[in-house]
Amino acid sequence: MLVFVPPHPLIKHWVSILRNEQTPCAIFRSAMAELGRLLIYEASRDWLPIVSGEIQSPMGIASVEFIDPREPVIVVPILRAGLVLVEHASSVLPATKTHHVGLYRDEETLQPIIYLNKLPDKVPEGSRVLVADPMLATGGTIVKTIDLLTERGVDHKLIRVVSAVAAPPALQKLSETFPGLHVYTGTIDPTINEQGFIVPGLGDAGDRSFG
Ligand code: PRP
Repeated sequence: MLVFVPPHPLIKHWVSILRNEQTPCAIFRSAMAELGRLLIYEASRDWLPIVSGEIQSPMGIASVEFIDPREPVIVVPILRAGLVLVEHASSVLPATKTHHVGLYRDEETLQPIIYLNKLPDKVPEGSRVLVADPMLATGGTIVKTIDLLTERGVDHKLIRVVSAVAAPPALQKLSETFPGLHVYTGTIDPTINEQGFIVPGLGDAGDRSFG
């Protein structure tokens, strides 16, 4: 598995705004959306399907490359907080479909519970899927979500995960389960606490986004 922390000053900036406990809800949300835009941009390198050809410009024939509209690209935000991370996805990824999934963690067992699944029964072959969840803590939520995708025919090597903060337990679980996965995250934090929160992290991304 490959884990990327893109070394961009804007990514560091927005992660720092998110970490600050004084950041109010509306600013938190716009910082998360901006971070998402940048991470999705980075994650789309060498991943988006390209079609090439020639085109007549006013001054001559040019070799050109476009995003291939025939190849499916799917965005899967994990509710709630993943919704904010993909707010600007359509400005970075042309021609996508969005399928929502909702999971919450049982507060005692920390096991993920699915309460919404808008994935199709069968995902078109060769689909590229971008999965967004700001926090990868124990890893239960993201692994469960990718399980839902692979059960529907998605090749995990075509999945890109974007997150704001990732913790070692989640990265370990992901790499053991999906060795061909690519993860793009704003930062990697050292640990999680007994309640399953990333430390120092940024708190509860869902509550901080939606109040
Ligand atoms: C948080 C977070 C992730 C999940 C990560 O969601 O947004 O989805 O926990 O935890 P894990 O890696 O240990 O599974 P939460 O359950 O708080 O739901 P919310 O987004 O609706 O607040």
